[in-house]
Amino acid sequence: MQERFCDMLRGLFSQENSSSSRALTYRIRTYGCQLNESDSEKMAGIFEKMGLAEDESDKPGVLLLNTCAIRENAEDRLFGNLGFWKTLKTDNPDMLIVLCGCMTKLNEDLMRIKRSFSYVDIVFGPQDIHRLPEYLYRRLSTGEKIIRVSDDDYMPDDYDLPASRKRKFRALVPIMYGCDNFCTYCVVPYTRGRERSRDFGKIIEQLRELSTSGFREVMLLGQNVNSYGRNVAGSPDFPDLLERISGLNLFSRVRFMTSHPKDLSNRLIDIIAENPCIERHLHLPFQSGSNDILRRMNRGYTRERYLETALRFRESVPEGTISTDIIVGFPGETENDFTDTLNLMNEVRFDSAFTFIYSRRPGTVAADMSDAVPEEIVAERFSRLLELQNSHCLESNRSVIGSTQEVLIEGTSHTNDTVFTGRTSSNRLVNFTIPDGTMIDSEPIRLDSDTGNRIEGRFASIRLLKAKTFSIEGRLENFTDGR
Ligand code: 5AD
Ligand code: SF4
Repeated sequence: MQERFCDMLRGLFSQENSSSSRALTYRIRTYGCQLNESDSEKMAGIFEKMGLAEDESDKPGVLLLNTCAIRENAEDRLFGNLGFWKTLKTDNPDMLIVLCGCMTKLNEDLMRIKRSFSYVDIVFGPQDIHRLPEYLYRRLSTGEKIIRVSDDDYMPDDYDLPASRKRKFRALVPIMYGCDNFCTYCVVPYTRGRERSRDFGKIIEQLRELSTSGFREVMLLGQNVNSYGRNVAGSPDFPDLLERISGLNLFSRVRFMTSHPKDLSNRLIDIIAENPCIERHLHLPFQSGSNDILRRMNRGYTRERYLETALRFRESVPEGTISTDIIVGFPGETENDFTDTLNLMNEVRFDSAFTFIYSRRPGTVAADMSDAVPEEIVAERFSRLLELQNSHCLESNRSVIGSTQEVLIEGTSHTNDTVFTGRTSSNRLVNFTIPDGTMIDSEPIRLDSDTGNRIEGRFASIRLLKAKTFSIEGRLENFTDGR
C-alpha cells in the first residue's frame, strides 16, 4: 500500500479543504464481472484510507469508473456514460474523473479515451490498482494528466491493500488473477495478463479473518478456478483448497466461479458432494455444443467430455444446479453447429444461463476469422436459444416448488420493500414474504422499511410456493441461524 502517498494526500486534502470546492468524497461505478467488483472494493478501501467518504451523488470529489471490455456493448455503455459525466464535470470542474479496468488495456479504446474524452484526469490499468494513491497525488500536486497502463503481473497480496466491502453477506475473494487459456473470442488474457495464483497460506489467513469478522458466505473468484495452483511448484490445487476451507468450518457457504470444463476434475465433484457447506451449484460455461466451434474457440474440450462432467455432477449432487455461458454467432457457426448447441442444452437442461451474442474483440484470434454470421441469422438463433433456455429455467424452478429450503438473505427486493430476497445453496433466487408474528431472536419481527437491511446476511427456511422463469416466490417459515 502506498502509505506515503496516502499520507501526503490526506495533507493535501486538508489544505485544500479551505481553498477549493472539491468535495472530499469518492464514488465508484463498476462495470462487468465480480473480479472488477472485488477490485473496486480494494479501491474503495484505498480512498477511505486517504480520508475520503463514499458519495453516491452526482457531485463526488473523485469519480472512478472501473470498466469492462468483454463485449462491445459493455464499452458502448461506458462511452455513453462518459458523456453524462462530462456535463457534470462542466458544472463542477473540481471533480476528478479516474478511469481504470479492462478497457484501458485495449489500444483502440485507450486511443478513443485520449482523443474524445480529454477531460478524464487519470487512466490506469487493472494491474495498477495499488498505484492509485500515487497517481492521484501527482495529478493534484502537478496538475499533469496521468495515463499509465502497465502489463505488470500485479498481485494485491504484495501491497497489503485494504478493502471496503460492499456486501455484508458475501465476501468476494480472488484466489487467482489473469488467464492463460486464450479462448479465441476473449480479451481477458490480454487485459488481465498471465494466470497467477495467490499463496495458499495467505488465502486461508484472509478467510479466517473474514470469518471472524462475521461473513457467513465467501465467493472464491478466478477466471478458471480449476487451474488454481497450477503454475506454483508444490501448491495445493483447487479441490485441496475447497477441502481445507470446508474442514476449517469457517463459513456456512462457500461459492466459487468460474469453472472451466477442461480442468474440472471428478475429485472436485466428489469434494462438493461430501461437503454440504460448498454450494450445490456449478457455473460451467460450455459456450457452444458443436465440436467444430469448440475447437475453433480453443476451448480444450469436446461436447462429449462436457456432457460427461455435467451429468456426473448431476448424479453426485442431485439437488445441485448447473448454470452456464453460451455464445451465439461465433464466426462460421452453421445451422448444424447451432442445433448441436440446442441439443446439448436439451441434454443438460441448465437451471440458468448467461446467453451472449458473439462480439468481435480487437486483438483476439477470432477477430481475424472471415466468416461472420449475418446479424439477422444471429438474432433469430439467439431468440430460439432464449426461448429454450427460459423453458428450462422455469422447469427447473418448478421442480422444487413445495419444498422448504434454506436461503441466505440478501436484502429487500428491488421492486417492493415488503418482499425480501435471497439465494439457496443451489443459487436459486428466492423472493419471499415474512408473515406477521414471525419470531426473530425470540421476539416477533417488527416489519418496517429497514427490515431488509437488518436481516441481510441471516439464514432462513423458506417455503417455495410459486415458480417464475428467473426466480421463485416463497414465504418465510423461520430464521435458522439463531443469532
Ligand atoms: N463475445 C461474446 N461473449 C463473450 N464472452 C467472452 N468473450 C465474448 C465475446 N467476445 C462470454 C463468454 C464468457 C463470458 C464471461 O462472456 O461466454 O464465458
Ligand atoms: Fe476468457 Fe477463456 Fe480465459 Fe474464460 S477461460 S477468461 S473465456 S480466455
